[in-house]
Amino acid sequence: MKIAITKTTTPTTMPAEEKLGFGKFFTDHMFMMDYEEGKGWYDARIVPFGRISLHPASTVLHYGAEIFEGLKAYRREDGGVQLFRPMENIRRMNNSAERMSLPLLDEEEALEILETFVRLEERFVPKSFGTSLYLRPFMFGNDEALGVHAVKRATFMLIASPSGSYYAEGINPVKIMIESEDVRTVRGGTGYAKCGGNYAASTRAGERAAKKGYSQVLWLDGVERKYIEEVGAMNVMFKIDGEIVTPMLTGSILPGITRKSCIEVLKTLGYKVNERLLSVDELLSALKEGRLEEAWGCGTAAVVSPIGKLAYGEEEYVIGGGKIGEVTQKLYDILTGIQWGKVEDTFNWVHKL
Ligand code: PLP
Ligand code: COI
Repeated sequence: MKIAITKTTTPTTMPAEEKLGFGKFFTDHMFMMDYEEGKGWYDARIVPFGRISLHPASTVLHYGAEIFEGLKAYRREDGGVQLFRPMENIRRMNNSAERMSLPLLDEEEALEILETFVRLEERFVPKSFGTSLYLRPFMFGNDEALGVHAVKRATFMLIASPSGSYYAEGINPVKIMIESEDVRTVRGGTGYAKCGGNYAASTRAGERAAKKGYSQVLWLDGVERKYIEEVGAMNVMFKIDGEIVTPMLTGSILPGITRKSCIEVLKTLGYKVNERLLSVDELLSALKEGRLEEAWGCGTAAVVSPIGKLAYGEEEYVIGGGKIGEVTQKLYDILTGIQWGKVEDTFNWVHKL
């Protein structure tokens, strides 16, 4: 695939690694390409990072036709750079595109775009363990008219942000509040797709939780408001009676790549992993009876994030003495070990550049 490259004439300096935070700084360039029905994708280009111009009637501004992905480029100790299961993100992006009537990407071309871009921006892949270059591919509908229908024009872009840990707490246990008012998505809706609207609709609950001192909310299903779905923008897992339980993918849950990887690692470690419905009542009973040993969220940004406290209504419960549990720690060590190239990748997940 031909990618035209226009380099910036005003390169920025890489921020100090301890100041990175998540998603605040951006690299010198961005990738763009456009789509038109009948013409396909065209004009693949890397240009200096900067503002983009949109027609005021552009579909994304009115009807929210937008999808995105999130993956990281990691620096190994030998200085090389690698991605983690990038094809999984590309396939999920196409599943999201299909749900939102946006055009599909050619999988091999999408991988080539990621590789070309990361090679160009290599100096922005930070070096300390736990930091990475967060890659954010996204696509939006761009028809310049107000009719409601599947778009005929779209734009695909890739930007990148050198990042540290997602939560200020890092790997320390977070406090989570069970959300009983808002729901994130519903079955038949867009939960399994990574579309911007899901996140716009979730921030109100997140803000309410933050005001009460919680890091995020635990989402319940939108039909019965009974079954546990996700935690904030992460999948969630529990260790109950020695076995691992994680909500099954019903259509309203995002099929996380970290979730999938955790399941594979856990099975290799000999744990029984149950992907099933888990009601909040069952969870609270296990918690009160001391059978809930560990709880954690998992996602690309935070990798694995232990849950130390869980609130439901006026009640607050402590999990695992408020400390990171053994399984959570093991998962964190193995996944981050593979991602940063410190642990042998027996799963063949790493994609070296
Ligand atoms: N759930 C939601 C809603 C998310 O936004 C994410 C993040 O991408 C995840 C789960 C975790 O998915 P992954 O492990 O692929 O990053
Ligand atoms: C994740 O990577 O786990 C996320 O949820 C990313 C978030 C910024 C949307």
